[in-house]
Amino acid sequence: MRKLQQVTGIALMMLCCLSACQTVQEQVEQIALVEEHSDPHTYSDYTSIGVTHLDLELSVDFKSRILSGSAQWTLTRNNSKAMEVIFDTYRLGIDSVILDDGSKALYSTGKSDKILGAPLTVKVQPETKKVTIYYKTAPDATALQWLEAEQTSGKRQPFLYTQGESIYTRSWIPCQDGPGVRFTYTAVIHTPADLMALMSAENPREKNKEGLYHFTMQQPVPSYLVALAVGDLAFQPLNDRMGVYAEPVMLKRSAAELSGLDRMMSAAEALYGPYDWGRYDVLFLPGGFPFGGMENPRLTFATPTILTGDKSLVNLIAHELAHSWSGNLVTNATWNDFWLNESFTVYFERRIMEALEGREYAAMLWDLGLQDLKATIRHYGEDKQPYTRLKLDLRGQDPDLGLSDIAYEKGAALLLLMEQTIGRNTLDSFISRYFAAHRFQSVNTEGFVRYMENTLFTRFPRLRQDIAFDTWIYKTGLPENCPEVENPRFRNVDRALEGFLSGGSLLSKENTAHWSTHEWLHFLRELKDRKPDGQTLKTLDAAFGFSGSSNAEIATVWFTVAIGARYEAAFPPMEKFLEHTGRMKFLEPVYEALYKSDAYKARAARYFDSYKDNYHPLARKSVAAIIGVN
Ligand code: BES
Ligand code: ZN
Repeated sequence: MRKLQQVTGIALMMLCCLSACQTVQEQVEQIALVEEHSDPHTYSDYTSIGVTHLDLELSVDFKSRILSGSAQWTLTRNNSKAMEVIFDTYRLGIDSVILDDGSKALYSTGKSDKILGAPLTVKVQPETKKVTIYYKTAPDATALQWLEAEQTSGKRQPFLYTQGESIYTRSWIPCQDGPGVRFTYTAVIHTPADLMALMSAENPREKNKEGLYHFTMQQPVPSYLVALAVGDLAFQPLNDRMGVYAEPVMLKRSAAELSGLDRMMSAAEALYGPYDWGRYDVLFLPGGFPFGGMENPRLTFATPTILTGDKSLVNLIAHELAHSWSGNLVTNATWNDFWLNESFTVYFERRIMEALEGREYAAMLWDLGLQDLKATIRHYGEDKQPYTRLKLDLRGQDPDLGLSDIAYEKGAALLLLMEQTIGRNTLDSFISRYFAAHRFQSVNTEGFVRYMENTLFTRFPRLRQDIAFDTWIYKTGLPENCPEVENPRFRNVDRALEGFLSGGSLLSKENTAHWSTHEWLHFLRELKDRKPDGQTLKTLDAAFGFSGSSNAEIATVWFTVAIGARYEAAFPPMEKFLEHTGRMKFLEPVYEALYKSDAYKARAARYFDSYKDNYHPLARKSVAAIIGVN
């Protein structure tokens, strides 16, 4: 971690040395450049000695829940006098460190911090080009979820997968764990026989008997995008550059849900330029996956909760695909700039969905997103206002605190506002150029603002003021000029709900037959605000079978409404849902609603106790915090 004082010190030194031959503007830019590289969530001083390539070799042991092997790093020197290279680690057991001349390196691991883990400092020689670290992971490494066979869909083989974002890769690879560092990699993974290993790299299509897999990733990626999954997996191609991996029992359903993936890719490329990563495949994980999706390059990791059979949740895949541009190609420089990854991706996702499903469809996604944004800002209240800024200051804090609808929706709304102000064509060519100009680079908020100054703000001198651009980026709360979207389909839902609540018959099966998941979500959210009683829920449940819904988005909102109304007929399916679902987006609101209710507080603790072993360490931590257990 680079302390601010140190950074300012360097900046001042530079000012003095350079002042004779530089303009003030150049000096200011130089300072900005130094600060640009200050990432509060890595110990590594990568501007002194950085890394360019990783050769990883690991054995996967399901019995002990340990990965062991070596990480060989190719170094790059930016400071010829530097004598040590620093890596991030989180509860890794370091066995030895060897330099490229074969000698044992002197190394030390510093004091471990709860959030950041410990620095591993390795002494190197001026001519050292490579260091090899021999190590093993801890059985409870935060990036790893080890599943017993019973926790998978096939129930025959165990499963392992990693989740690197934001700063968890350091718990399975000693690395310079900041999004501002990029490297290429190769990997050799030894697995038990009968399992397939996949990475965010060139991947096998079949298992091999030896359980020996070789991987190459030729494009430089930041550490959070290095990913591994090992399990009973099979592959089904969708076309010559796209396909689906899943457990064999899930494969057909998975491929069917994604049969529109080629249209999605065409829409994405038509918007913002060619896909730069070769193949694009999707891996469906077991239900314990704590996220909806993770944009691991070449291989999106996805939750099986989007396999609804009607493709109604595939916007999640559009989102992860969009990250191939925003995030993976152009990467947020630090986690304080996380909105640059997610907001561009949300905007891009909705443009893809609009291209595929039309304007009215995309309007529903915008509407739900803006509702989430407003709810999040309300939820943060007075005391947590700093978290409602786009540019965050998470020094000394867990970077996952920045993981909120602000990063996703507030910046997406800003882009929508820009679209409405300068026109879609102008914005689109700006975004394409922004991606092309920063390919395989990281950008921070200040760098993005500078890029705007040199492009759109030069072309449209009043734009910055007109849209209150700086307020959006640096101030708290929701700016007054937050855009709205016309949304005829939700207005239709509103009428139907009014009709139903006032005793009319507008909510007939015929009326709702063509409703998408998004319309139902809007319906249930609005219903929730009206605090319906148990009898009302009973009527709705009998007509539409919400309690038994296999759509996790719908089920989640329904369960929270049911808890509020003490409609206990929904509880047995809800308990099943909490047993088999690991996605935090769904667990959190249900546990929160139970915990908030005096009648069900104890029940929340009981469910958690019964099912916590099915949850990923991150989900376990988050639910434990919600229901006040540790
Ligand atoms: N990159 C995120 C997931 C993430 C963010 C993991 C920060 C860890 C730390 C991914 O692209 C994402 O946003 N997933 C969403 C999908 C949704 C917005 C369509 C999810 O998991 O719900
Ligand atoms: Zn995302």
